[in-house]
Parts: sequence; structure tokens; C-alpha cells
Amino acid sequence: MTLTELLPSLGCSVSAQADPRLWPGVSDRRLGWIAATFGTPTYVLDENVVREQCRRFRDALPGARVAFASKALSCKAVVRWVLEEGLSLDVCSAGELAVARAVGFPAERVLLHGNAKTPEDLKAAQAYGVGRIVVDSLHEIDLLTDQRVLLRVMPGIAADTHPSLATGVDGQKFGLSASEVEEAVRRIDARPDLTLEGLHCHVGSQIRHVATFEQAARRMVALIARLGRSIRELDLGGGFAVPYTSAEPDFDLTGYADRVTRAIRYECARHRVPVPELIIEPGRAIVARAGVTLYRVTSVKHPFVAVDGGMSDNARPALYQARYQPRLLRIGPTAPMTLVGRHCEAGDVLAADVPLPRDVHPGDVVAVPVTGAYHHSLASNYNQVGRPALVGVRDGLTRVLVRAETEEDLLRRDVG
Ligand SMILES: Cc1ncc(COP(=O)(O)O)c(C=O)c1O
Repeated sequence: MTLTELLPSLGCSVSAQADPRLWPGVSDRRLGWIAATFGTPTYVLDENVVREQCRRFRDALPGARVAFASKALSCKAVVRWVLEEGLSLDVCSAGELAVARAVGFPAERVLLHGNAKTPEDLKAAQAYGVGRIVVDSLHEIDLLTDQRVLLRVMPGIAADTHPSLATGVDGQKFGLSASEVEEAVRRIDARPDLTLEGLHCHVGSQIRHVATFEQAARRMVALIARLGRSIRELDLGGGFAVPYTSAEPDFDLTGYADRVTRAIRYECARHRVPVPELIIEPGRAIVARAGVTLYRVTSVKHPFVAVDGGMSDNARPALYQARYQPRLLRIGPTAPMTLVGRHCEAGDVLAADVPLPRDVHPGDVVAVPVTGAYHHSLASNYNQVGRPALVGVRDGLTRVLVRAETEEDLLRRDVG
């Protein structure tokens, strides 16, 4: 017999614990009310946490420009909050730019990214007058007119993350190789209407070690020195890891600020080049912990607890074997369970082997924390399931930020 079986209250306390590093400040009562009022699945987003994170980054790096990577969560409310908090904005498509335009985001503070920008992306960005376009290929240079640009460089760093998220290593699709960078600089310098403002790299996402960023900073300054011309801006991208479970540590943002800025200053002095302005592009770290996804249990077949959502609203377990620490909105002695979704794939598993109350039953509400980043923005309509609503919470107020998709929405597009 286990200790939890002998002392059921021990199991209760384990299941009731909500690690404050993972959960925003929204009470279980409020979460239950949201599930009852707006239905499930629903994404909940705590505005205060998003704003706090914006300020954390600005305070940690007062000399740097902080651009929110809107691919992490692109909607008008969030883009408006980051604007009000004084951040810049990274967009990757005409669609993400349309959201920025809808809230009047100042064009000068918008950067356009993308390894395969379409003519429509470039046209929309140039028509809006975005402050920077981050050039990702030699061909793209010929498509631009009257534009200030950064060059995206492949820094050749194997980051400590899932292979699908390692975007700075050699042999993947993003950025220019060292020899292409020199050619790109020549081509841009030959064009009086283009201005090369700086270099950019993004080593990947969910990067836990400051040393990885430090290494990238050193390599980028060495490249600036090799180019032998003035480079005013150095954009080191995003990638700041967040904990998804209690076992994972917090990212050391203070250490990043200290070590990366010191590495840049040191390398610039060593190579005798001026210190560029630093730009960073956090996405996940701004919005991840602000989000909770609410589901309702639809069936229980031990050890499987099935809910009314799954890989259509959370693609991360299937894409990156991501792990989560879900909780029921009530307590009870727990047993290991596997939380699965409703979709027609055996791989539609939200969280394997997690403690949930043994008497979990249909109708119970399950809450999954740290779902503010790359959930809403990665959602699909698999099995013709409408994408969930995004409900914002701030202090005592709750409001729908993005409404749930209906069958009518889905059928409206189906014009065959
Ligand atoms: C160019 C660029 N900048 C910033 C980000 C944001 O990364 P994260 O959300 O990990 O901070 C990404 C993510 O893929 C990216 O590709």
C-alpha cells in the first residue's frame, strides 16, 4: 500500500497544489465560471501576466529594443497590450501584420520576418512602411525598394532544444550562410534605396541556457568585424525558455542581460567595432504563463481521461513531445492518468502519466497551464472542430478576446 493510499489527504494536497511558477493569478472559482459561461475548450489569458512579462524584459534590458514575436499569440488585444507596454513587434506574414495594422501599431516599430516571404507579405509590409524587413535570402533583396533591412544570419549554433525548434544550426532553412552574408551586404550597399541597419539571428526556441545566447552574440560580433562596415543593430531573436512543469527551472533573464550585454561589449572592444544597439524578440516568454486551457472530461477509460479538445487546440505534444502538468478544478486522492484528446489519432495525447483524482468523471473541468504561447496560434480545425475562444481576464473583469469558431464559420469557407 502506498503512503497516498494510507493517507488520502496527502493525495488531495498533491492534486490541489498549483505551482505559482506555472499558473497565472486566476482563481479556480473564476476558471470554473469561465468554463460554465463560455463553454470548453476555452483558452484563458491573464492580461496582467502578459503586461508583467513585457515590463520584466524592458527592465532587465533597459538599453535594448524588445519586440514581441507575435507568432506566439497573434490577436488584437495582445498586440495592443504590448504596444501600451512600449514594445516593438515582430510579424511573419501579411496576416500578422494585419493584426498590427488593426490596432494602429506604429509601422516604424514593426519588423517583418520570414524565410519564404510571399509577394503579398512584402507588398503589405512596404505599403505599411514597416521599420525593418529581415532579409532571409539573396533573392529577397531584389524584391525590396526604399527599405531599411536587417540580414538574417545562420550562426551555426546547435541549440539545446527540440530539433524542430533549433533554427540557428547549419543545414536548416533559415538565414544566410557566412559567404552569402558578404554577398548580400555588397548587393544592399550597391542599392541607394536600401539601408542595411543590422544583423539578425535566432538560435531557436525554448532555449534554457544563457551560454547558447552568449555564444551567438560572440559569433555575431565577430561577423560584424569581418564585414568591416558600420552595423548599428544586432538582433539576437527570441527563444527564452519557460517552464511547462514544476520540474523545469525558470530562465535566468538577469543572467542573460548581464552575460549577453557584457559579451557584446567585450567582443566589440576586442574587434574594435562600435557596440550595436541590441534587439530581442521574445514570444513564448511574454505570453506562455498567462494562458490556461480549460477542457471538460468527456469519458474515462482508465488510465485514459478523454477531454473535448486535444491536438487541434494544442499541437505541441504531437510536434515536440511537449509535457504539461494539468489539474482538475477540484481535489481528490490521485492516481497516474493519461489525458487524451478527442481527435482520430492515437498520438492525440495531451499529458501522459499525470496525477489526477481517481474519481475523475465526465463533466469535470481540466485546466492545463502554460498554454498562452503557440496554442491559439497553432490551432487547427482537424475533425472539423471549431477553434476555441480566447477569453481575457484582468483583475475582476472577464471578456472574450477572440470568439469561438462555429460550424457556420467552417461551412462559410466551404464553397464547393
Ligand atoms: C525570428 C524569430 N524571432 C522570435 C521568435 C520567438 O521565439 P520564442 O517564442 O521562443 O521567444 C521566433 C520563433 O520561432 C523567431 O523565429
